[in-house]
Amino acid sequence: MSAHDPNLPAQAEQEPIADPGLEPHQWRPTDVDPKAEKRAERQVAALFGLSALSAIGFVVAYFAIDGGTENPTRFGYLGAQNIALGVLLGLALLLIGIGIIQWARKLMGDQEIVEMRHPAASSEEDREATLAALAQGLEESGIGRRPLVRNSLLGAVGMLALPSVVLLRDLGKIDIPALARTIWAPGMRLVRDVVGTPIKASDLEVGDLVNGLPEALFPTPENGYPAEEAHGSKLQVNKSKTAIVIVRMEPDEIIPGPGREDWSVDGILCYSKICTHVGCPISLYERTTHHLLCPCHQSTFDLGDSARVVFGPAARPLPQLPLDVDEEGYLIARSDFTEPVGPSYWERG
Ligand code: FES
Repeated sequence: MSAHDPNLPAQAEQEPIADPGLEPHQWRPTDVDPKAEKRAERQVAALFGLSALSAIGFVVAYFAIDGGTENPTRFGYLGAQNIALGVLLGLALLLIGIGIIQWARKLMGDQEIVEMRHPAASSEEDREATLAALAQGLEESGIGRRPLVRNSLLGAVGMLALPSVVLLRDLGKIDIPALARTIWAPGMRLVRDVVGTPIKASDLEVGDLVNGLPEALFPTPENGYPAEEAHGSKLQVNKSKTAIVIVRMEPDEIIPGPGREDWSVDGILCYSKICTHVGCPISLYERTTHHLLCPCHQSTFDLGDSARVVFGPAARPLPQLPLDVDEEGYLIARSDFTEPVGPSYWERG
């Protein structure tokens, strides 16, 4: 603190910058004109009403627009149902937000309040003061006096429950047989990922790991596979279900699972590439231990032992694809996977 300056008045010395105080309060049109107040009230109620209509529109769009995976209604390249649901739900939330802002700007009390600093710990009086301020806020918001605004807001918020209830229905639509089936079929060749080249057993050295797909995803006039399975969303679905890793190890290092004694060819084994935890694609392979590590949460599978889980959160082994070779020496599937590929979210019973 500086020494006393005899040239300064006593108050200026204590408060070198004068407290400017509050500016005069500006009354809004809705504070002084009952008609403007009523008009604002109707505007806010209309916004909440439009929000409720958007929520109802969401439910109507959900049932009226075909959003199935087979042949959904499209808007350009996008699914029309997804667009409609997103726009209508966004609108319902946006209109509630705008309504609340308008309510606060035009109708709630906006008197300036000076709050003095005080110790952080709340005293009994502070708590009582807080409750009083809360009661005053509620009073000023007019929630008790403006049943039209209050009820329309409650209606709009209540309507927002409808989209969530409708979306719950989708949780029950998981098609377990569809998840359990892929396009792998007896005699289908294994091909290299990206390029689609068929793989001969003799192409692989001990220690190799190759990423693969079924030949059906690379249709040509020669192989005769239908083109529909290899285009658009079907291609993506098929890829995600049929992606494989093919490894070769010494035959005597394999511990075949019960009934899997003939699922390998000269030490070559094939497994789903999709982690059974939450579905990351896996290909971090340690050739000396035959461990395959998932980069997402470190689940580790022993490929020499039916892809048994040796570490991490995955709850079951990677599904194995039974292998054979055709007369030209190419690797082929003996059958489809014998269990569902991918994460184990769903009820398998
Ligand atoms: S997705 Fe593979 S460990 Fe989680």
